[in-house]
Amino acid sequence: MCGISGVVGFKNIVDSLYQGILNLEYRGYDSCGVALMNGTRLLIKKDVGEVEKFFRKENVLSLKSQIGLAHTRWATHGKVVRRNTHPFTSGDGKFAVVHNGIISNYRALRDQLIHEKVRFLSDTDTEVIPHLLEKFYKKHKNIEEAMVKTLNLLEGSFALAFITVHQPDQIYCAKRESPLMLGIGDEIKFIGSDFNAFIEHTKNAVILDDGEYAIVSRDAYVVKNYVTRKEVAKPITKIDWDSETSRKGGYPHYMLKEIYEQPQMVSTVLELDISDLDEVADMILKSDTAYLVGVGTTFYVAKFAQYVFSSLAGVFLPSISSDEFVGLANLNRKSMVLAISQSGETYDTLSAIKQGKAAHAKTAAVVNVMGSSIARMVDKVVLQNSGPEISVISTKAAFSQMAVMILIALRLGLKAKKITRGQYEKHLASLRDLPGIIQNILNERSGFIHRIASNHSKVRHWLYLGRGIYYPIALEAALKMKEVAYVHAEGMPGGFLKHGTLALIDKEIYSVVFIPPREDKFLYQATIHSVEEIRARSGFVLGIHFDDRGKNRDLFSEELILPPVPPLVAPLIQLVIGQLLAYFTATSLKCNVDKPRFLAKSVTVG
Ligand code: F6R
Repeated sequence: MCGISGVVGFKNIVDSLYQGILNLEYRGYDSCGVALMNGTRLLIKKDVGEVEKFFRKENVLSLKSQIGLAHTRWATHGKVVRRNTHPFTSGDGKFAVVHNGIISNYRALRDQLIHEKVRFLSDTDTEVIPHLLEKFYKKHKNIEEAMVKTLNLLEGSFALAFITVHQPDQIYCAKRESPLMLGIGDEIKFIGSDFNAFIEHTKNAVILDDGEYAIVSRDAYVVKNYVTRKEVAKPITKIDWDSETSRKGGYPHYMLKEIYEQPQMVSTVLELDISDLDEVADMILKSDTAYLVGVGTTFYVAKFAQYVFSSLAGVFLPSISSDEFVGLANLNRKSMVLAISQSGETYDTLSAIKQGKAAHAKTAAVVNVMGSSIARMVDKVVLQNSGPEISVISTKAAFSQMAVMILIALRLGLKAKKITRGQYEKHLASLRDLPGIIQNILNERSGFIHRIASNHSKVRHWLYLGRGIYYPIALEAALKMKEVAYVHAEGMPGGFLKHGTLALIDKEIYSVVFIPPREDKFLYQATIHSVEEIRARSGFVLGIHFDDRGKNRDLFSEELILPPVPPLVAPLIQLVIGQLLAYFTATSLKCNVDKPRFLAKSVTVG
């Protein structure tokens, strides 16, 4: 949701703090602030706007400090104005706090503090924290005591950190439900909402669990539980992402870079440990009902998975958007929840897993971020190893998850004797050929897609149509268009048209139709039928289809012809085209591609 970065070191840490918070900007970017220790005084700078501009405007890099915190915000409570920007200080100015998450009982705490004559300067839930720290410090004359007392009063979710003039060489931090970790270097320590805060400096991380707090100085750290107050021995997690992957590497945007990384993603997925996939397949086989859950893009991955499990393994798994899980799922000991999440921190998906656990159901997840809450909570995790996905718009992570789902479905199909060994090998061979095919399409078709996108960038309403497994592809491609280009795009199954939506067809509404290869006879015919329905009403259709030897001449208003490919991988190729259409529309419209409005990389609130 928001990003926290903190550094305590021997030398000036301001550059490292800047790099850390810049790397986290994809988590939120409506305002930014820093707290630095200036001798024995706290120096606070904050304002609305993006990290880079803020640091430049306030000339932060010219400052010197050996300890500091930085925050980049994605507003939840209170407008995007300077007074609501982190850090927040106590009334006496001696504590500076940054926070991610939501303090759900902040109104009651605030009322009580106001009653005690505390003056609030912001509309945020966070501001209660520094005031509580000041209050308890005054009482106990002990920072740790004040911290523990404060933490035990807070309800809701938080990753928080503070520095204080009372102990100017230590960072204090704690977490419940929002991610927080420490980066362990020699003579320098970091804290961050995720690894990107310190990946350039150290690969050694300590991941805090719910209910833990840490006191961090440049040469030591201690982690304790704030309820039992006992010290917790924490393992060091080795981060296997490299910092190079986190950089843009010559691409104008992370989104494009990550789209271009997709061929490599297929190879990475093919190298996953088969026994991990088999474990998930076995869990599905043994369960009465296995629910596929995700939200936003990952819900569409779940829907995609639903089709592959049906066709390759002969099992029907209901897919539910995790925000709707509570009212829908019927869970018991024989159920299973299979979650999909890039960040591993999404509140709704975490809640669905918790619900599964409460009912003693088995839980598994396909997750990109190791050490994330979901990765640690489930009975079985498959780490998809896609590397950091920096663009807020998910592309390569979702693409990889779809490939993982195909592999799990293939293993399940083999176990359930729904497919033969020969069919299994044939499908694997198609996947092995996929990186080369996508690479060629990216090389040869990107220019054409760019042209189509810029020619039609002024179109305000699109219908995205697909049938069968191309339906989730249509949904996902439409979501890309909405979130990055702010253009209305509605994904739906082609079969829906004649049940009402045809009424919309006119000069203003354009359609994109994802057409399967001809071998998929039924789907192909049905999809072409949808195209004909639109064309009969003089609607515009952009047909994306695999070379079928000119059979469709004159059917489409415009077409993009792809090379023939095996049906198993065709939907993934269509997805790449959908991503590029959205990307190039967004660049034509001069949108802020990697940081689209009103979207954050990990949505850790409900
Ligand atoms: C869209 C997008 C969001 C996320 C959703 C779930 O590009 O990124 O729709 O897919 O917020 O996030 P994760 O996968 O982190 O659980």
